[in-house]
Amino acid sequence: MKSDVVLFGATGFTGRLVAEYLAAHAPSGFRWAMAGRNREKLEEIRRALGPAAAEVPLIVADAQDAAALQKIAEETKVVCTTVGPFALHGRRLARACAKAGTHYCDITGEVNFVRASIDENHVVAKESGARIVHCCGFDSIPSDLGTLMLAETFAERFQQKLGRVKFFAGETSGGFSGGTIASMLQLLDAAKQDRALRKLLRDPYSLSPDRKSDLDLDGPDSVRVRWEPSLQRVAGPFVMAAVNTRIVRRSNALSGFAYGRKFRYSEEMTFGRGPRAWVTAAAVVAGLGAFLKAATFAPTRMLLDRYLPGPGDGPDAEARKRGFFKIRIVAESEDGREKLLGRVEGTSDPGYGETAKMLSETAMALAAEDRSAGGVLTPATALGMKLVTRLRNAGMVFTVEPLPGSTSSSAGLGKSPAAPQPSSLDG
Ligand SMILES: NC(=O)c1ccc[n+]([C@@H]2O[C@H](COP(=O)([O-])OP(=O)(O)OC[C@H]3O[C@@H](n4cnc5c(N)ncnc54)[C@H](OP(=O)(O)O)[C@@H]3O)[C@@H](O)[C@H]2O)c1
Repeated sequence: MKSDVVLFGATGFTGRLVAEYLAAHAPSGFRWAMAGRNREKLEEIRRALGPAAAEVPLIVADAQDAAALQKIAEETKVVCTTVGPFALHGRRLARACAKAGTHYCDITGEVNFVRASIDENHVVAKESGARIVHCCGFDSIPSDLGTLMLAETFAERFQQKLGRVKFFAGETSGGFSGGTIASMLQLLDAAKQDRALRKLLRDPYSLSPDRKSDLDLDGPDSVRVRWEPSLQRVAGPFVMAAVNTRIVRRSNALSGFAYGRKFRYSEEMTFGRGPRAWVTAAAVVAGLGAFLKAATFAPTRMLLDRYLPGPGDGPDAEARKRGFFKIRIVAESEDGREKLLGRVEGTSDPGYGETAKMLSETAMALAAEDRSAGGVLTPATALGMKLVTRLRNAGMVFTVEPLPGSTSSSAGLGKSPAAPQPSSLDG
């Protein structure tokens, strides 16, 4: 009998957290298995999970072993994977799932990997019915589902599409794992040597289904520090804009421009108010620039490789528990008259506690999908508001309220509309 979900990468830092989440939250009768390249490590993880996981089957497979990955894909409804860097280890698995008609989700934030997967798998997955869903962690679920929630609210409340939407990552506490750093450095290394990749990374519509049909309203991601009047806060560049904005624009295009043809989308961070906020913002921008320089300059890169967390390392349980994130999304209607404020919040650290929750809930939601339109989709076009509901039930905040100082009516806000289906899945 097929299992519902196979978790590939259960021995990694994030994979372990996903395994813990599934052991604690999968409904009774839900059949899930753990896969990885090392049986002893898998056995140790299963023992540590205790009685709730005692019967969970273990599968040994390497990310480069196409035959083993095909077998996994054929014997489950959903594969969920944390094996990164995805550009190095992810392509064969996504391909196997697209061919087998098996749903797939991951937590990549690597635009080059997602683009390659679209080019290789979208047509195949449309035919097989596989839903291939990348970026199901902190990048890019809050962005993608937060925007969807606002689009639904504007449609329901004002019969309006979206105009300008501005995402702001606000107060946050969290850390980085060795795997995340390895993936960032791997992308920097690849971009240093590859002009076409640098061009792809600069393109605001790099994940578009049909580049010719884009209106090119959005320019490059923000690189400056400025005052954001709608929130009365200092705003500056947000490193994850480089992937999140592309995913959100893909959602709009895949859904037949359901958010609107005038939809514009940007992402920045906020730093509070007052002189200290300006100084912090400037320091963060300078720090990011210094990190990028250090990572691409051989002598300082050796130091980074030596002192940054390695594979399997990451923020400890105490730090994860203390972690949280708060996102505000300021959205205008297409005619510019109505303005609303969306909020997306999590109650543990964004990259690991909340990411494990987001990926696990995505995998369980995909396992509940029987007949579906396949393709290389986004969280919003694959699962829509159904996933928002699941994440709300799992403790995340997704709300909409009037923007302070605007005249939009608040009546009826906060309801959760039904899940939309993608109207066009041309990849
Ligand atoms: N989107 C987000 O918000 C988000 C958040 C967190 C992490 N991530 C991404 O998730 C990925 C994993 O991060 P992490 O910190 O969990 O990394 P990690 O601790 O280094 O774990 C990597 C996992 O990949 C496995 N692996 C590596 N090479 C393999 C191969 N050839 N065949 C099979 N398995 C292989 C490792 O197995 P072994 O244990 O046997 O070495 C381990 O299970 C990274 O790409 C990171 O950027 C994204």
